Amino acid sequence: MSANKDKAAKIIIDTDPGIDDAMAIHLAFADARLELLALTSVFGNVFTDQATRNALALVEQAGSRIPVAAGAMRPRTQTPNTPSHYVHGKEGFGTLPAPTPKAQPDPREAAHLLSEMCRQQSGEIILCPVGPLTNIAALLDVDPDIAAHVKKLVIMGGAVWCPGNVTQVAEANIWNDPHAADRVFAADWDIDLIGLDVTQKVTCVQDDFEGLRQTSPEIGGFLADITSFYIDFYHSVVGQHICMMHDPSAVIAITDRDAFEFRQAPLRVICEGEEIGQTVAETQSGRRPVNVAVGVDSARVRKIFLDICAQADTIRNKRIAAT
Ligand code: BDR
Ligand code: CA
Repeated sequence: MSANKDKAAKIIIDTDPGIDDAMAIHLAFADARLELLALTSVFGNVFTDQATRNALALVEQAGSRIPVAAGAMRPRTQTPNTPSHYVHGKEGFGTLPAPTPKAQPDPREAAHLLSEMCRQQSGEIILCPVGPLTNIAALLDVDPDIAAHVKKLVIMGGAVWCPGNVTQVAEANIWNDPHAADRVFAADWDIDLIGLDVTQKVTCVQDDFEGLRQTSPEIGGFLADITSFYIDFYHSVVGQHICMMHDPSAVIAITDRDAFEFRQAPLRVICEGEEIGQTVAETQSGRRPVNVAVGVDSARVRKIFLDICAQADTIRNKRIAAT
């Protein structure tokens, strides 16, 4: 794998860390095929202030100084749902106490940072939202022409041809701000949607993370520590000691898109009633079709995650030595 950052895909992750968010962020830092430029925070798994703090802590843990910009504190229209503390822990990292990062957030609000960075590197940046789409909808508000400057979006969210995970029909990220998601799907940009149709099929077990602890004691050990809580949650839901690799799957869809199979469909999000948060394929909508992931080579995606995260400490040490 080349460490040549000139050829690496430039990405910004919009995130609500969150245990699988932490996996996705450390994966992105450790993959030489990616250049992670910034993080923006949003509510969802935790409150926005916690998400910002956790994102800063993850950047510090990775030996990086990329900017972290705080995003929206609440959904666009609806009353906020309660954070998913039962899935990710009270502070977002399982049973670990709140981290205390040294760095401060970027002075820019998330939507403004996204607008400025995407315009400065026009056509080069992939946005990877792995939380509610509130900041991305806000980006369209503050900069209506921004779609022309964004290379593409690779979104973790939605349940198009499968059941939801927070209601019968809705996936958590979309359900936490359906109005924002509908705004994002209505815009004219290239979207790959990595939703529950595939992410539920990519799973890991605690031993996978104990392996990462051996090869990368600091970052792998941290992921092993936080993931045991996440696996307990999945055990309570599906009766197996596994966890679903939602957010890392979206990052892997950037580097290894051919591990996924896609079907094109314009999407609408139901914004009221019992089906609120459902992502519906609507061929007659006139909207630009979204590339919805419908198939995945689960074993390959799992292996990519583990192989790359095994190097996380080594990459972190090289990053620190280079600065
Ligand atoms: C999504 O919701 C959050 O709990 C996870 O971090 C992931 O982004 C899965 O539905
Ligand atoms: Ca997330």
